[in-house]
Amino acid sequence: MHPSPDLATVRQWLAGARQVAVLTGAGMSAESGVPTFRDALTGWWSRFKPEELATEAAYRAQPQMVWDWYLHRRELVSAALPNAGHRALAAVQQREPPRWTLVTQNVDDLHQRAGSPGVIALHGQLAQDRWLDAERACCAQGLDATTLPPACRHCGNLRRPAVVWFGESLPAQALALAEQAVQTCDVLLVVGTSGVVYPAAGLVFTAHQHGAQVVLVNPEPSELDTVADACLRQTAALCLPTLLEP
Ligand code: APR
Repeated sequence: MHPSPDLATVRQWLAGARQVAVLTGAGMSAESGVPTFRDALTGWWSRFKPEELATEAAYRAQPQMVWDWYLHRRELVSAALPNAGHRALAAVQQREPPRWTLVTQNVDDLHQRAGSPGVIALHGQLAQDRWLDAERACCAQGLDATTLPPACRHCGNLRRPAVVWFGESLPAQALALAEQAVQTCDVLLVVGTSGVVYPAAGLVFTAHQHGAQVVLVNPEPSELDTVADACLRQTAALCLPTLLEP
């Protein structure tokens, strides 16, 4: 295994790139205090796996418990602040907007709160919710926010978090924009993802197949190491400010 090109080399790649795409995962928000998925879940939720909670079937079976989990995560995220990695990405996007495209698997709003423009949110937004079943005429005026989960007082339709659950399709427009970004970029910077969930992880292989240089920022090895041109074994908040400074 050859040693990975170092941060200074990657800085040169980024300087010479016409288009740079960025794909972030839960590791991006770890230093903001937001737990990742496949690290051990802390506290009350350690008895569950996200795959047992983040599905439509789980929600229909136990709506209050799953809703509570999302309320718990919303509280964690609203108490969190963007870290130096989020801020470094937002700064470089603001300096050179047309050159950078940010795609995230994260449902927290930390990239947006750091000032990143045009965030492509592949898995939706934790802070938003929508109707579980198709909205009926009665739902528009029937929302009862006092129940948990909130529901339509007329037909019982439940609200659900506006996130993509396992087994559900990703928002078509977001996926199309992400595919276009990774097919046309010269460098793909991948930060804080284990690369085990598709189709998001497939974007990295698409970039590689289209000849992009793939750079991983992750303190641990991941499924994506096989297509990486550089692995920066550092955390996001420590690596990105140095990697992206002018
Ligand atoms: N900086 C960078 N990377 C980090 C840090 C950090 N401070 N801390 C942890 N990591 C890395 C871990 O080594 C791991 O490879 O971040 C990765 C987090 O992996 P996961 O917990 O699997 O999160 P992610 O890859 O984003 O999961 C993808 O799966 O559960 C679904 O929809 C959910 O979007 C999520 C998707």
